[in-house]
Amino acid sequence: MKDTKSLLFAPMEIRGVTLRNRIVVSPMAQYSAVDGFVTDWHFAHFAKFAMGGAGLVFTEATKVERRGLGTVGDMGIWKDEHIEPLRRISTFLKEQGAVTAMQLNHAGRKAGTYKPWDGFGPLDRTVPVEGQEHWPVIGPSAVEYLEGWPLPREMTKADIKEVQNNWVGAARRALQAGFDILEVHGAHGYLIHEFLSPASNKRTDEYGGTLQNRMRFALEITEGVRRVWPQDKPLFFRVSAVDEGGWSLDDTVVLACELKAIGVDVIDCSASGISIRSPTASRVAPKLGFQVPYAERVRKDAGILTMAVGLIVHPKQAEEILQRGQADLIAVGREILYDPFWPAHAARALEQDAEFKSLPVQYGWWLDRRKKTGYVEE
Ligand SMILES: Cc1cc2nc3c(=O)[nH]c(=O)nc-3n(C[C@H](O)[C@H](O)[C@H](O)COP(=O)(O)O)c2cc1C
Repeated sequence: MKDTKSLLFAPMEIRGVTLRNRIVVSPMAQYSAVDGFVTDWHFAHFAKFAMGGAGLVFTEATKVERRGLGTVGDMGIWKDEHIEPLRRISTFLKEQGAVTAMQLNHAGRKAGTYKPWDGFGPLDRTVPVEGQEHWPVIGPSAVEYLEGWPLPREMTKADIKEVQNNWVGAARRALQAGFDILEVHGAHGYLIHEFLSPASNKRTDEYGGTLQNRMRFALEITEGVRRVWPQDKPLFFRVSAVDEGGWSLDDTVVLACELKAIGVDVIDCSASGISIRSPTASRVAPKLGFQVPYAERVRKDAGILTMAVGLIVHPKQAEEILQRGQADLIAVGREILYDPFWPAHAARALEQDAEFKSLPVQYGWWLDRRKKTGYVEE
């Protein structure tokens, strides 16, 4: 092995949790749950990433209440019955040396859509969806996401309290399910982002208007979650660092400072989604690492750890982001769907794993032995 240690493969401590490296499996919805329950698909899906050597494996956006479902196949944690099958997954991931994180979310006015491969548009509410009842659409204001989408019912103060309590309840269940890290999903045009952005928040009470008022919902949820999430466990927050409806990077820096003050450890810097499809659904080609500058700015100006995400596909690219001090963690999404062993392959590419130790021993032992014996090409 080379002596030059890469940063990508340097362990990292956050509160009482130690990651074996800085590679994170970004939250990625599978649209394959039933009534919020994970299935064998999820077990196999998450298991691969832990076996592939990722330091941190995220669940997909897991819904804090049924009203928060985007599609009928979203994962949920709104009832105690959801806990046990999730615990089976977190236990296995930890046995494989990964740290586990759950992302909590509520779809807000984007609730009730078809799955991506069925068109992603709003559900036809005149017919049942996969045999399940429909669920109401709520949001900060009666402003629809896009033309033709349902008009959300403006949330009352009682609704706000109820949803916030459900967030806290979900955090408690995530803890019982054995997760090490929790992330509040405040991005991509979902409920928390809808409160933040002036495009979707037209309220005239203390939850709307000024930046401070628009941040209130997010901050209250985060405070509530932090209260029940143990002090030795990290809390992340995913932002859309900029959106197309008036939320700016300066606003994100202000938000990040406030979040830091109430106990958030990492800002996960994504972007967009308030009134257009997220960049992953876009047909326009973005540049490699197109969101990295957001992580860099937040890290510098809010003085908080950041996670970079968005078209980080090459090991060297990931390493350089860390070496340049642009972010502290590297989240990989679609590339790790293509290659769940991306971390192990990256370790080899960066000459950090001469003996295949980043693979499970059941695989690595054989590969190391084959390497030592060598083989003749023909
Ligand atoms: C299939 C799929 C599902 C996704 N689901 C979520 C999700 O549940 N929560 C979230 O915050 N982002 C979600 N995203 C966005 C990813 O976490 C990531 O930010 C995005 O794919 C950009 O990273 P990449 O270029 O490495 O794929 C999803 C992306 C994909 C491709």
